Amino acid sequence: MESALTARDRVGVQDFVLLENYTSEAAFVENLRRRFKENLIYTYIGSVLVSMNPYKELEIYSRQHMDRYRGVSFFEISPHIYAVSDNAYRSMRTERRDQCILISGESGAGKTEASKKVLQYYAVTCPASEQVQTVKDRLLQSNPVLEAFGNAKTLRNDNSSRFGKYMDVQFDFRGAPVGGHILNYLLEKSRVVHQNHGERNFHIFYQLIEGGEEDLLRRLGLERNPQLYQYLVKGNCPKVSSINDRNEWKVVRKALSIIGFCEEEVEELLNIIASVLHLGNVHFEEEDSGSAAVTTETQIKYLARLLAVDGTLLKEALTHKKITAKGEELMSPLNLEQAASARDALSKAVYGRTFTWLVNKINASLAYKDEVYPTSRSASVIGLLDIYGFEVFQHNSFEQFCINYCNEKLQQLFIELTLKSEQEEYESEGIAWEPVPFFNNKIICDLVEEKFRGIISILDEECLRPGDASDITFLEKLEDTVGGHPHFVTHKLADGKVRKVLGRDEFRLLHYAGEVNYSVNGFLDKNNDLLFRNLKEVMCQSENNIVTQCFDRDELTDKKRPETTATQFKNSLAKLMEILMSKEPSYIRCIKPNDAKQPGRFDEMLIRHQVKYLGLMENLRVRRAGFAYRRRYEVFLQRYKPLCPETWPNWDGRLADGVSTLVKHLGYKPDEFKLGRSKIFIRFPKTLFATEDALEVKKHSIGERVGMVVVVIGIRCYVLSLRVSLTAIAIQSWWRGVLDRACFIYRNHPRCPENEYFLDYVRYSFLMNLRRNLPKNVLDKSWPKPPPALIEASEHLRKMCMQNMVRIYCRKTQPEWKNQMEQKVTASEIFRDKDSYPQSVPKLFVGTRLSTEEINPKVLQALANDKVKYAVAVTKYDRKGYRPRSRQLLLMSTFAVIVEQGKLKQRIDYSALRGISVSSLSDGVFVLHLPFEDKKQKGDVVLQTDHLIEALTKLAISADKVSCVNVSQDSIKFTVGRGKEALIDFTVGPELLITKAKNGHLSVTAPRLNSR
Ligand SMILES: Nc1ncnc2c1ncn2[C@@H]1O[C@H](COP(=O)(O)OP(=O)(O)OP(=O)(O)O)[C@@H](O)[C@H]1O
Ligand SMILES: [Mg+2]
Repeated sequence: MESALTARDRVGVQDFVLLENYTSEAAFVENLRRRFKENLIYTYIGSVLVSMNPYKELEIYSRQHMDRYRGVSFFEISPHIYAVSDNAYRSMRTERRDQCILISGESGAGKTEASKKVLQYYAVTCPASEQVQTVKDRLLQSNPVLEAFGNAKTLRNDNSSRFGKYMDVQFDFRGAPVGGHILNYLLEKSRVVHQNHGERNFHIFYQLIEGGEEDLLRRLGLERNPQLYQYLVKGNCPKVSSINDRNEWKVVRKALSIIGFCEEEVEELLNIIASVLHLGNVHFEEEDSGSAAVTTETQIKYLARLLAVDGTLLKEALTHKKITAKGEELMSPLNLEQAASARDALSKAVYGRTFTWLVNKINASLAYKDEVYPTSRSASVIGLLDIYGFEVFQHNSFEQFCINYCNEKLQQLFIELTLKSEQEEYESEGIAWEPVPFFNNKIICDLVEEKFRGIISILDEECLRPGDASDITFLEKLEDTVGGHPHFVTHKLADGKVRKVLGRDEFRLLHYAGEVNYSVNGFLDKNNDLLFRNLKEVMCQSENNIVTQCFDRDELTDKKRPETTATQFKNSLAKLMEILMSKEPSYIRCIKPNDAKQPGRFDEMLIRHQVKYLGLMENLRVRRAGFAYRRRYEVFLQRYKPLCPETWPNWDGRLADGVSTLVKHLGYKPDEFKLGRSKIFIRFPKTLFATEDALEVKKHSIGERVGMVVVVIGIRCYVLSLRVSLTAIAIQSWWRGVLDRACFIYRNHPRCPENEYFLDYVRYSFLMNLRRNLPKNVLDKSWPKPPPALIEASEHLRKMCMQNMVRIYCRKTQPEWKNQMEQKVTASEIFRDKDSYPQSVPKLFVGTRLSTEEINPKVLQALANDKVKYAVAVTKYDRKGYRPRSRQLLLMSTFAVIVEQGKLKQRIDYSALRGISVSSLSDGVFVLHLPFEDKKQKGDVVLQTDHLIEALTKLAISADKVSCVNVSQDSIKFTVGRGKEALIDFTVGPELLITKAKNGHLSVTAPRLNSR
């Protein structure tokens, strides 16, 4: 906010609390208009965000914008939905308190778009991992699915959500989104069977027809023409220019599979969607008896197949009603009208229940599975509520009644929580609480929901009582019971003026936001939401898995009457309130600028109406009841200290005294401000604006002096070789630069008021830089250079980061690969000084060099009890003439054996192996040293192999002799029978040559592969 205090003439105020005339609706709307004209669609009322729908794409949602709002204090930057999102996220992380963001506004105001922006912000800015990415994708992809099934084109919005939605996003201890859960409220089921002119049914029907593949449509018995389906023609609006059903179909299909729907589930789901269309095309004719008979056999055939039910039973259930008379069950035929309404009731029930199933299914896919602490509740939560705002139409019915009741509840919550937090702040700051006069709408909530006496109770009673209850008898009951209530009036009870605008079938509620007239027509039916029992029975027998889950057989045996729609809604709202009460709320109030969905058009009447019904003036009044502005002392002092000689350039004493000195110097009157424990509270915006203007003047007047100071500091910096760049000196006109420079000079001093800003900034920059440039893998040794104050922390972080990457790497490593790595590590320990070692590193060690087919069967037979772990071809040099003999060396679990074709020539127990010698060259020669005293052994064994490092590493590991391998720099001494000694001499030569030398030694010449 501070950033734009000066721009208020052009763009209005960023926070409505700064409106001088805060009780004036005209001033409020004027501020909205100024900002809207400049494409500034966001404005605060304290911490509430007011959002205007721009009806055009604005360049304010890029990655850069997201970064700009990350970790930045709410009021330091212009209002934005990202600021609200980030603020909620940071409060959740730092205070470990669950948050919720309540988004409200009328249809088309931008609630759903806002909720998507919030979700997108978290998806992009929160930490991620592979698993988190899946959750993020699912969270994002739940939107197109829910919108396809729960949104429709209405007159107000081409993508209108026809249900209320509350979504919890769960975050783990690192702040990464790891799960989610959705609660849905009151889907507008009546849309399935009827749409007003210019409106459509739910998107999914058109998407399926336009986008569905040919063979899919054939299987579903559908044609690619929405005009053929009765449930799609009522609104006479199959095509909408802003909607591309074919593309959307692809998006939804992809989203379904990302969320985790398998092919069969999608098929069953689409069967149901198609069956609703077929149901709409079921027609009846009147028989002579007056009862209805189905005339569309083809539809019944499709329905039987798609819903997997018995066609004959379905046909009967659509035209009959089961009644119980004197303990006997009878099928009573329905007339035409009754049959049509039974059919529509079935369509609504099937669609409505499938929608709930869909939400449950998405929830299962989003469920947070904490594998580390499965029993603990380790996730923190941010809830997003995208719910219908107040609705006031020419004709308002049961749906508007429920929706507006919901808004009363939300208003009550808002008042309670806002007042509570205000009061808490006053208390914690030690300021006397000043009672805020506000209208408590509890009286209206009670009127609607009170047990026995409330409107919902009376409606339920009319729905349940035997006899000829009707919408009109309900109205009469209301008059009898709540007739005297100050917020209720009917035609009969009204005075002359009101009576003129109130129909005989209407009642009026005086909501907190204004009056709404409700027509009682349809209240009883909609509240009952009845589905005949025999239709339920047919559906319960379905073999379509989704239908089976939607129509539970227990429903048939349960004698208790199902809860009415209004009571269900009331109960779900009570639960929602509990959920919201347990969290810290943020509010986004959405406004649409015009009804034509056009950019740039500011329809004042429409906006005034919304300001009123969103209760924004009431919000502002509550927020402004005490003080318009409050800031922590250090923030206030930092900004305004140039205005007072005692506080400029630095105040050394207590912050509170500094602020007190400052405001005294500025001439604040006692009733204009209060000093709390850590904050200053300023009552009127004009006081703040006067201070702000004074600062502006001061900035200019000190500009030149500041310039001089900067030059001096610049020279000092130069002298001190502090590498202050000349460009820095060039920005001397801006006084803040001075402070930065001063901070820089003090940068190596202990933390003090002169350098704390700089030090914090440097630390923050380092951490942000580190966050973006963390090493990518365990081999990546890059690490940003830390500032002096963070060297130790940086070292800790580097270690933690490496440990973490190693842990992740190890966890992902397959057992075979782990084994390979262990062997390679051992090889490096033993052979790193050997000339041939570097060449061996990139070559993988293999399981064995000889397969069982290459070993003589007799040998295998002789070793029957033991498994050959590794086998390799070797050359043995005999003890006398050092003649080369071709042999195989087999490694077993407890011994090694030298084999000549079918014969086991020599067994070497690992326990008896004294040591292994090799040269430092690349010759492949090695000596196995054996005990001298063993009579059976004829001395040490001299062997050669092309796979020396691999074979000896395996031998050393198997025999547990890693420390007994000797890499000799010159000759190797070995024993030849009965304690006689012999020598192998190694020399470097052009090629490998192993011969008996004239001096009787074994001479090995080997090339050097690596220069040293
Ligand atoms: N921030 C925005 N930027 C651009 N266009 C927007 C924005 N917010 C809303 N719109 C436009 O307004 C239309 C309606 O918005 P949205 O669907 O969010 O309304 P809603 O409040 O959820 O309405 P309903 O109650 O009918 O569901 C969007 O389809 C989009 O065209
Ligand atoms: Mg919506």
